[in-house]
Amino acid sequence: MIGQLNHVAIAVPNLKEAADNYKSTLGAKISEPKEQPEHGVTVIFVELPNTKIELLEPLGKDSPLHSFLEKNPSGGIHHLCFEVDDIVLASLHLRNEGAHLIDEGRPRIGAHGKPVLFLHPKDFSGTLIELEEA
Ligand code: CO
Repeated sequence: MIGQLNHVAIAVPNLKEAADNYKSTLGAKISEPKEQPEHGVTVIFVELPNTKIELLEPLGKDSPLHSFLEKNPSGGIHHLCFEVDDIVLASLHLRNEGAHLIDEGRPRIGAHGKPVLFLHPKDFSGTLIELEEA
């Protein structure tokens, strides 16, 4: 059901520092920072030939990243995003499989303007999974 890896999202305490590291140490191409107030994050994309890394810094005091960074003060992998052809079919399939869907599997518009849903980390070896309709 899942297709390509769309991105790996990494929560970071300091976005500029993290992005500079990818740029100068690893020689990666990085985007300008983009604020996404509706998701409580500021993001910088690291563009790789086959996928993206999204460096996420909390934006605002209600950001969902604060609790993650409390547990992981130097940052860490926040989620993996896989592409699916049809988010509604994916949601139905996952429900039948007994997967734990966040927000009961109701797709919402994600950070790239496309429908997404999230799967609980407890089903996937401790990793939050995002599915995005590509
Ligand atoms: Co994501």
